[in-house]
Amino acid sequence: MASSFHGFFFIFIFIFIIFNYFTLFLEAAALVPAMYVFGDSLVDVGNNNYLNFSSPKANFYPNGIDFPTGKPTGRFCNGKNPADFLAEKVGLASAPSYLSIIENRSYIHDRNRGINFASGGATIIPQSNQIISTSISLCKQVVYYNSIYESLVKDLGVTKAKAYTSKSLYLIEIGSNDIFGYFASINLRKIYTPPQYLDLMSHHFEKQLKRLYENGARKVVVIGVGVIGCTPAMRYRNISEGCNSEMNWLAFVYNQHLTSMLNRLKDELFGFHFSFFDGFSIMLSSIHKPTSFGFSEVKAACCGSGRLKAQMACIPKASYCNNREKYLFWDKYHPTQQAHHFFSDLIFNGPRKYTFPINVQTLVAIQL
Ligand SMILES: *[C@@H]1O[C@H](CO)[C@@H](O)[C@H](O)[C@H]1NC(C)=O
Ligand SMILES: *[C@@H]1O[C@H](CO)[C@@H](O)[C@H](O)[C@H]1NC(C)=O
Ligand SMILES: *[C@@H]1O[C@H](CO)[C@@H](O)[C@H](O)[C@H]1NC(C)=O
Repeated sequence: MASSFHGFFFIFIFIFIIFNYFTLFLEAAALVPAMYVFGDSLVDVGNNNYLNFSSPKANFYPNGIDFPTGKPTGRFCNGKNPADFLAEKVGLASAPSYLSIIENRSYIHDRNRGINFASGGATIIPQSNQIISTSISLCKQVVYYNSIYESLVKDLGVTKAKAYTSKSLYLIEIGSNDIFGYFASINLRKIYTPPQYLDLMSHHFEKQLKRLYENGARKVVVIGVGVIGCTPAMRYRNISEGCNSEMNWLAFVYNQHLTSMLNRLKDELFGFHFSFFDGFSIMLSSIHKPTSFGFSEVKAACCGSGRLKAQMACIPKASYCNNREKYLFWDKYHPTQQAHHFFSDLIFNGPRKYTFPINVQTLVAIQL
């Protein structure tokens, strides 16, 4: 009787120890304390749901059809985007959208996984989006972040707040809408030559990056502008369905401006580290050799209607493809979950060819 009691007791202790071990293990599994996300529709997780009708929206079916819940969330995608995949890689739950939690003081004080400030349609240069839009510009996103940083300092004190943010990850993906805006606006093209405009973009980007640095950011992941001239929306405008080469050239040159700016900042700002993902070159390779990367359709969108499924947008009644994992583009502007997954793997631990000077896995391991 006694020995069986002892047996149970030891099993109980054993289970208790194992349980605690795994809890500790799970807690330790996060590589960073939090992730803060800035950018446009490629990383928006629902901020635009809270904006009025003049901003782009994706909170309707069939968006989200491949999301774990199978429901639309406001992501401009059939499933997850790089903000989700990268959070998974560093062991965090995807950060909630800023506008969904701003009223929730307890979330902000829990500060358990970060916040996503990204907004579909957002631009680097304020007002470069000529269409009247209420998207949250990069500048405004940083203003929102700064208020979060201030409350962190109030809660923890400067030293602890800085330790917390310096270990956190800052993901920034933006710029396509500025280039789309330049092409759409005769006015902008009159005022700026393409090199002047690209300079202005990287200048504004630098300004916001410095503000983030002043407010604790040290580890920054920057996703370059993709091959936006090859989006179904742009191919549609070309009778032969080719890419808009001038637009691609601008995106390519802009990425060069961006990387030289980042390299300069690394020398200028003590303790600043970055990882740049060259989404342009890997996307171009996928377009040239789709099958080598597991795609079979890289021209047409999966969801939409008309030629290349790009005549009409991916609206609630639009038709969509079944073999979504074979498509590069979900709708006429945005990649599929499959493409985002593939890119995110490279962002996290890709070779220097695509992710430089270091990948995110190396970035998060840097001891500050
Ligand atoms: C949408 O929101 C913006 C910013 O809050 C506001 O300036 C604009 O007037 C609103 N538009 C409409 C049509 O309500
Ligand atoms: C507020 O945030 C807390 C902590 O993250 C969470 O448990 C709670 O469900 C949130 N409340 C609402 C109304 O979203
Ligand atoms: C249209 O597509 C063709 C064929 O791919 C390409 O040569 C041409 O440059 C494209 N037109 C524009 C305006 O980019």
